[in-house]
Amino acid sequence: MTTNQDSWGTRVGLILAMAGNAVGLGNFLRFPVQAVQNGGGAFIIPYLVCFLLMGIPLLWVEWSMGRLGGSRGHHSTPFIMETMDKRRFWKYLGVFGIFTNIVVAAYYCYIESWTMSWVYHTIVGTFDGKTQTEVAGFFAHYVDLDTSTTGIPYEPVVFYILCLALNTYILSKGLSGGIEKVAKIGMPLLIIFGVFLAYKGITLTAGEDGAVFDGTLGLNFLWEPQFDSLTNLNVWLAAAGQIFFTLSVGMGTVHCYAAYVKKKDDIALNAMTAGWTNEFVEVLLGASILIPISVGYLGIEKVVELTSSGGLGLGFKTMPYLFEQWGDVIGTMAGIAFFGLLFFAGITSSLAMGSPWIGFMKDEFKLSQFSASWSFGLVVLALGMPTVFLFNYGVFDEYDYWVGTVALVVFALTEIILFSWVFGLDKGWKEITSGADMRVPRIYRYIIKWVTPIMLIVVFLGSLITPQGGDWAASFYSLIEGNGWIFSDQAIIAKLQNQDIYASLDLAINTGNTEQITFLKDKLGFVNGSRLFLLVIYLLICGIVYKAYSNRKKEGRRI
Ligand code: PHE
Repeated sequence: MTTNQDSWGTRVGLILAMAGNAVGLGNFLRFPVQAVQNGGGAFIIPYLVCFLLMGIPLLWVEWSMGRLGGSRGHHSTPFIMETMDKRRFWKYLGVFGIFTNIVVAAYYCYIESWTMSWVYHTIVGTFDGKTQTEVAGFFAHYVDLDTSTTGIPYEPVVFYILCLALNTYILSKGLSGGIEKVAKIGMPLLIIFGVFLAYKGITLTAGEDGAVFDGTLGLNFLWEPQFDSLTNLNVWLAAAGQIFFTLSVGMGTVHCYAAYVKKKDDIALNAMTAGWTNEFVEVLLGASILIPISVGYLGIEKVVELTSSGGLGLGFKTMPYLFEQWGDVIGTMAGIAFFGLLFFAGITSSLAMGSPWIGFMKDEFKLSQFSASWSFGLVVLALGMPTVFLFNYGVFDEYDYWVGTVALVVFALTEIILFSWVFGLDKGWKEITSGADMRVPRIYRYIIKWVTPIMLIVVFLGSLITPQGGDWAASFYSLIEGNGWIFSDQAIIAKLQNQDIYASLDLAINTGNTEQITFLKDKLGFVNGSRLFLLVIYLLICGIVYKAYSNRKKEGRRI
């Protein structure tokens, strides 16, 4: 029997924790930027369709897999998956459910630590009197670890460690004593801060407080339907990617939280409550802050330009300057509210990422909550330092691309095949509906069996060969004419070949920019190195899972 007896304190606590898991930096930083990059109003329809046809089904599948595994004493996907089908390879595919969490935690904690630092700088007045370019410059110096401006040596590293230590400390207090408590405080606070800022964003009026445009200009830009890009598969790929990231599906995180739900308790309604809460926060609050306020001051063109170069940093590069325009008191309050909101959104998500590793270590190696949590902290620190020190060489982006994006789709596809086709939908449906406090629409039987897997296959194949500019026809003609497929830099195959870096390198060689040439060559090394590093980490976890499996056999314990 497992020594892992942790459980949720209350249903409200569980739902808040699960909603806190989903509501994260993705809602406030990633969603608005994805929407802008993908044509504003053109994005929302694919996005909602992906939510209904992939997000909701995957939530039900993951919650029910989790509860099922939990009833056998498994709190992470390797053995949850092997419980559902005895073939041994499942547990090595289940490794994704630990791997993805610790790798995403590694770079996610970095952004989370920026939010702490930006709260600090708002309070001490670092941004006072700075122009937008200077605030953006501050960000650039920060991630370059050149923090001579702030006086704290290696400030990003200091805040990273603080942030990770805080996460680890809370995790060491367990579910009801740590995670649930933080969710009960963090979620309401986040909503209050969010409503305040959304109100400011929507009521921003041209000519007042130095605003050039109304806040509604940005809102219209996001919401005005543009049907022409509905046929662009690239927009669909981006929408699917956002749905995965924001709901935290395809990661193994939901399984882990659900594994602590009691066998007889509901999951169908719980899953919906948490999922829809995430969508309300994303679509109502997430869309009404960053873009309306930025557009109000900087105009659409400038915001589009800023989002094209690295999305997640946008809020850090613009907001402190924009808030300044609201005067000392409201400006400082808004700064604390915005970066505080991001912090709470972030921490309730990063805590969730810690749980599968901790669950596994407790289940299999009898570690205490304390040791399991601190082992998580150390592993994440080791994984995270390259993203901090080599940020400018693109290591952070590599983690985000391969693990925060591609791995989610691969794992979601794996688990839905296991659930619907190997374990079998009849049994699966019973799992979803048992103890349910709502009637699960029967149409979801067909969706889970057919629609979701097929969509996932399309998304995966589409991501492999995404054509440049989303122009499938042009790539196709080019292929027929013998000139080869024209890959987008974001296509998996193009990434593997480092198409974007080689293109910049060619340019640098042509213009004889030696500094740039050296930089790009180093970058190639670091990018390839980080991929190899991630692969090694995956294999190491496979090794740990193998060890756990042999222990079980030796001791005669069943999976
Ligand atoms: N869903 C979170 C967000 O929107 C991110 C996350 C991913 C959280 C995976 C937990 C696990 O930011």
